Amino acid sequence: MSEPRNNPRIAVIGGTGMNQWPGLEIDQRIQATTPYGPPSAPLLFGRVYGVRACFLARHGEGHKIPPHRINYRANLWALREAGITDIIAIAAVGGITHWYPPAAVGVPDDAIDYTSGREHTYSDGGDGWELHHVEMNEPYSARLRKHLIDAARTSNLDVAERGVMGVTQGPRLETPAEIRRLQHEGCDMVGMTSFPEAPLARELGLDYACLAVSVNWGAGIGEGGIHAEIEKSVEQGMSKVRMILSRALPAIVGVRA
Ligand code: HPA
Repeated sequence: MSEPRNNPRIAVIGGTGMNQWPGLEIDQRIQATTPYGPPSAPLLFGRVYGVRACFLARHGEGHKIPPHRINYRANLWALREAGITDIIAIAAVGGITHWYPPAAVGVPDDAIDYTSGREHTYSDGGDGWELHHVEMNEPYSARLRKHLIDAARTSNLDVAERGVMGVTQGPRLETPAEIRRLQHEGCDMVGMTSFPEAPLARELGLDYACLAVSVNWGAGIGEGGIHAEIEKSVEQGMSKVRMILSRALPAIVGVRA
């Protein structure tokens, strides 16, 4: 799935800190239905940074759907049905290692799934689906990751070029001992949504990469309250996300700057 596509159609899935995409000039709202139920929100199509793109608010329009209740299967299915081939998923995370202090951005290249009880596969023994054991050697698209890293470099932004994403069930934050365990097991950051989003995209043949934004230190690492830290860092991190997207999207779609 990492070969360049002829006509990539790109979607951004936004989460905490990016529940809307202010730059997107919306000209089409698709209220999709899928065999798995409705997606989190309407698919919003429009123009941004000189390209056509789609936006989906992962937590719903009012940011009300908690990570464990997101209908990931419906979200990815609806995007594919709308013709999307490439997905950039924005994920707010807690930083664990020094690569991911608050307001840092990074492009994870690996992940550990600590979630439970989520509808995490289309390969569920139902009609019309063969059993597929999708490869997760490279859980995030190398091609899209490179675009994100290049865009950050061209924007003179520091970017963590790799990192292991630990994905927890939420919606509560972790205990300090849980963060120490994640660190011990190799996680650089912790979020709540990258799984099952990434493997479901893989099952549907979509290219998917994550742009992670650290908005706090994981529990027990930083000083002071986590929510206060999030409030302080989220806008700084998201302004970096917008800069990166403004260069990455035209490059992915093949438009010269
Ligand atoms: N833990 C899990 N998910 C998160 C965090 C965190 O500390 N911060 C933002 N998303």
